[in-house]
Amino acid sequence: MKKPILFILLILPLIGCYGKKVHSDFNLSIYQFEEMISPLPEEVRSLIMANPEIFMEKLSLAMAGPEELLWLVDKDQGLNPDYAPDDLEEISFYGITGTRDNMKLRKIIISPLLSLFQSASQMGYHLVVGSAYRSYSNQQALYQYWVEFLGQEQADRESARPGHSQHQLGTTLDFSPIEERFGELPEGKWLMANAWKFGFSMSYPSGMEEKTGYIYEPWHYRYMGVAAADLVQNFFQGNQQLFLEFFQLRSAFLKPLWLGKQPPH
Ligand code: DAL
Ligand code: ZN
Repeated sequence: MKKPILFILLILPLIGCYGKKVHSDFNLSIYQFEEMISPLPEEVRSLIMANPEIFMEKLSLAMAGPEELLWLVDKDQGLNPDYAPDDLEEISFYGITGTRDNMKLRKIIISPLLSLFQSASQMGYHLVVGSAYRSYSNQQALYQYWVEFLGQEQADRESARPGHSQHQLGTTLDFSPIEERFGELPEGKWLMANAWKFGFSMSYPSGMEEKTGYIYEPWHYRYMGVAAADLVQNFFQGNQQLFLEFFQLRSAFLKPLWLGKQPPH
């Protein structure tokens, strides 16, 4: 008679642990949490398991921002031809230098971009924007230009097809010079180490062509918000594509369990 009671007493703490929430912003048990991250590569899972609360805290902050910041736009998944953000602003108006006139980015990224430029300038680096928002038709013309110049196969390694460029989001920019050596310049190295602190993430790092579909583009950064860029840098080993795929896969599951970002006490 005593044995079942003893058994229940022994497994109760285990049940309690698995039923416990990982973070107060989510109705998510540890069991569900482990299930949620199970498709991720081993190294990423162990980084997350070492700090699950911080991971969920950053995820909650990322979910509180505008959803377009985390839309997956890649070779498989595109934007509607008529998608255009409604808050585009000329960057020159804010004193941001570009290589051409009339360069535009979304208003919501101007302030973090200015902070990034100011911080770079304190280090003695002068950042210049080489490309910013591109409409569907701009991208169509650009892609066509590269196809004629390089041939279709090489063009597809370097330029997105219309509807498939992150530049259409208005939250992505290229730094000048748009050349591989940018990654070796002090500006490029500084961005690689620091851009995430301002919410920016390099979309096509070196050696990732198999995953992203594009060659190394040390000049191409997408604004994701500080929390998401932090997740990419510190949990997803700089693999923005993997983070965005993970978020897309899990957001329908997570959203109903999300209680909203709790204000700090
Ligand atoms: N060069 C990147 C892939 C683009 O065209 O958006
Ligand atoms: Zn770019």
